[in-house]
Amino acid sequence: MQTLGNRQSLAAILKTRRQKLAEQVSCPVILWSGRSSARNFPANVYPFRASSHFLYFAGLPLENAVIRLEAGQLLLFMDDASPDSALWHGESPNRGAIAAEIGADEALPLSELRHWLAGTGTIAVQDPKNYFYQASLLERMLAPATRPQNLDLEVTKAIITLRLSHDQAALAEIRQAAQVSIQAHRAGMAATRNAQIEAAVRAEIEAVFTANQMTCAYGSIVTVHGEVLHNDRYHHALRSGDLLLVDAGAETATGWAADITRTWPVSGQFSPTQRAIYDVVLAAHDACIAAIRPGVEYREIHLLGARMIAAGLIDLGILKGQPDDLVEQDAHALFFPHGIGHLLGLDVHDMEDLGDQAGYAEGRTRSDRFGLGYLRLDRPLQTGMVVTIEPGFYQVPAILNDPERRARYQDVVSWERLTQFSDVRGIRIEDDVLVTTTGSEVLTADLPTTATAIEEIICA
Ligand code: GLY
Ligand code: MN
Ligand code: MN
Repeated sequence: MQTLGNRQSLAAILKTRRQKLAEQVSCPVILWSGRSSARNFPANVYPFRASSHFLYFAGLPLENAVIRLEAGQLLLFMDDASPDSALWHGESPNRGAIAAEIGADEALPLSELRHWLAGTGTIAVQDPKNYFYQASLLERMLAPATRPQNLDLEVTKAIITLRLSHDQAALAEIRQAAQVSIQAHRAGMAATRNAQIEAAVRAEIEAVFTANQMTCAYGSIVTVHGEVLHNDRYHHALRSGDLLLVDAGAETATGWAADITRTWPVSGQFSPTQRAIYDVVLAAHDACIAAIRPGVEYREIHLLGARMIAAGLIDLGILKGQPDDLVEQDAHALFFPHGIGHLLGLDVHDMEDLGDQAGYAEGRTRSDRFGLGYLRLDRPLQTGMVVTIEPGFYQVPAILNDPERRARYQDVVSWERLTQFSDVRGIRIEDDVLVTTTGSEVLTADLPTTATAIEEIICA
């Protein structure tokens, strides 16, 4: 398998990416990797994460390094580590060695960068402090990455074009992240019946990432309160009768992500009400994945998922009416308030640092509809894209107890019937799907989704 970890091929992979970039832009491109920031004092820093745009073309998470890309050529600007650094952090390769590894044509100290800035375009980094440092390095003002101007806009569009469809090297990395994430979820499932609190399951999951020299692609969600969509607390007790929602994905050393959610019963057995809703979410998940192929609008996949959720809830007596009408009124969003998924790549929400420029096709903007406003991707699917499919069902008090919404939807929700499903606070099922020339491949398919298969793993 060819991977970015296979150093012999790294330079060749990066060269191809540079050549493709050269076909898309008229100007040289400068990308800065970023710097770590202080956590509570300067010597105690947050783990460094290089800019994803830098990683795409440089392949290595180099700190405080700049690459300049022009007509397929690569210049690397970085300073060699100081003797002090060797004392505290050990020896590191010098810039000449790094340049050879990534196939740079030349390696220069950062101080030389000022001679190479004229007429270049870039992408601003995220962190405000680093953003000002980047502006000083580039000796000009920078608009935020969400609103680039002039050459920066041209560069942003070119990089989006490249990063939307993954090459084989990127896919090899995403597959590795996916396999480790699957192993991690299995470890979490295996640990659940003996765990007392959410944190104990989280520890088992993240231990697998660490043992495989990977990190979390995002803050793991391991919670019996799945209705809190991005829950970041882990202190709750695990009780028989609870569902545990786990959304956790690994990131490879060169930055590529996976993003998987499974929801399982703490006891090893779904209650009849939990299983009924689980099967509604799974039917939506399966139908959406079956609909994926090049040319299909992702928005249509989202609406299909919404109709499937609505239809399932009608069958259970929770919603009343026709699926199409309910989706038209956004009634599905009472229980499925987010989008069906997003792009996946070097970022778990790939290129979301650019706002909606990557997620939304040119000329499209976010809807202000309750049932569409959180859709992160609104483009026709194309071969080589990796997207997530992640339908869910949640009972979010802030939504369901909102007097305005209750009044608006009083005739289409059977509130009394809903009370019988009070042991279902949140269910999500999320897989990572590659768009192929003829359809799709589920990169996370080795982790089962059916209720029965999940019960078997928990009880094994
Ligand atoms: N893990 C965050 C998400 O699924 O979008
Ligand atoms: Mn996701
Ligand atoms: Mn997720």
